[in-house]
Amino acid sequence: MNTRILTGITTTGTPHLGNYAGAIRPAIVASRAADADSFYFLADYHALIKCDDPLRIQQSRLEIAATWLAAGLDADRVTFYRQSDIPEIPELTWLLTCVAGKGLLNRAHAYKASVDKNLEQGEDPDAGVSMGLFSYPVLMAADILMFNAHKVPVGRDQIQHVEMARDIGQRFNHLFGNGKELFTLPEALIEESVATLPGLDGRKMSKSYDNTIPLFASAKELKSTIARIVTDSKLPGEPKDPDASHLFTLYQAFATPAQLAEFRSDLLAGLAWGEAKQRLFQLLDDELGEARERYHALIAKPGDLEDILQAGATKARRIATPFLGELREAVGLRNFRSAVQDTAAVKKKAGKTARFASFREADGNFRFRFFAADGEELLLSRPFSDPKAIGACSQRLIAEGVDALELRTDEADRFTLWLDGECLAESPDYASIELLEAAMLRLRQALATLAA
Ligand code: TRP
Repeated sequence: MNTRILTGITTTGTPHLGNYAGAIRPAIVASRAADADSFYFLADYHALIKCDDPLRIQQSRLEIAATWLAAGLDADRVTFYRQSDIPEIPELTWLLTCVAGKGLLNRAHAYKASVDKNLEQGEDPDAGVSMGLFSYPVLMAADILMFNAHKVPVGRDQIQHVEMARDIGQRFNHLFGNGKELFTLPEALIEESVATLPGLDGRKMSKSYDNTIPLFASAKELKSTIARIVTDSKLPGEPKDPDASHLFTLYQAFATPAQLAEFRSDLLAGLAWGEAKQRLFQLLDDELGEARERYHALIAKPGDLEDILQAGATKARRIATPFLGELREAVGLRNFRSAVQDTAAVKKKAGKTARFASFREADGNFRFRFFAADGEELLLSRPFSDPKAIGACSQRLIAEGVDALELRTDEADRFTLWLDGECLAESPDYASIELLEAAMLRLRQALATLAA
């Protein structure tokens, strides 16, 4: 089974070198792994919590989208979208809000920090705290649980939020799963080697310390920023201690082992700081020069970026829409009509179960149909020359259930079922998207009853 990797980027600023080395680059590398199924999104609803300047929000969304694509993210390979284009996310947020303990959220670091600061200043503990800030971890849990992510690459400051997503997901599973794992419980993934980069002054590179190196600044600007990196006052020719130098740490984040070994021995041998800075500049310019050009080309065509993100949203919603349907069902927000039919069907067909039925066609090929317990046909497979392959497929569908199911709705009136990148079966035609989504839900449920 593929590993689903998901992470969000809050759209409040312009990406800097620390964001690149700590988050963007490792995420793009991870997305290229053969078994990776990656979801990267612009957390623009989260941005609204911290920022009430519409222009800044808008600008940052654009810059961050362009940054990820320029840095090499392949939007065809991954699912790349804006959080605010997925209405299922706020809807799920509400379902989760209803099970998240207030006490759990009281313990969130970001909220507690605000309260502590207020208390220190003799203010009301909740002064200036919005419900958005307080509920921040629930929105984040919805981001993660919506797509059943296994791994969530984040900075250390976000580990607690991923753990809260686990807690909330677990509670939801317990309350509504009927013994089944509705939500996959996520794990935080911390990139140990380059978790944080130092900024110009040696503290963590961060916009709040005003010590950042911009990612796609012009070569000239990059050079002048690097010139401002603080070093000790050792003169050219005096040995420098690489391990006490954050310039060295910055170099390390981008160098090959051979380049790094050379830089280390040159510093120990007395390389001048000015020369060391020139080498860091060259290293960064080599790594980022091409991406910088792509970045400016993308920024110049916002309409193209919009199209890429809309396509990403469509792709994401192919998962989110049916899954949210399942969750609504689980909590009891059910269509009156189908609920009534369900009880009638259960009474009439008690004892019957969902089933696969294979048959042979006139041309000698085999196909199978899959029926719900009430006899409704849900799937018709492609032709198989070997009937044994049908047995193997149906066993896998039963054993792996929802995880093996990749349902696509490329056509408006039917869905297709894909396994290992191959179209395995298709549904009958449905008159509306609602009926189609309801049928996808019944398919998942019917398979789940077989697994049980
Ligand atoms: N809160 C994260 C941050 O500030 C951004 C984020 C939002 C996120 N939703 C997420 C990260 C879901 C991972 C998964 O860095």
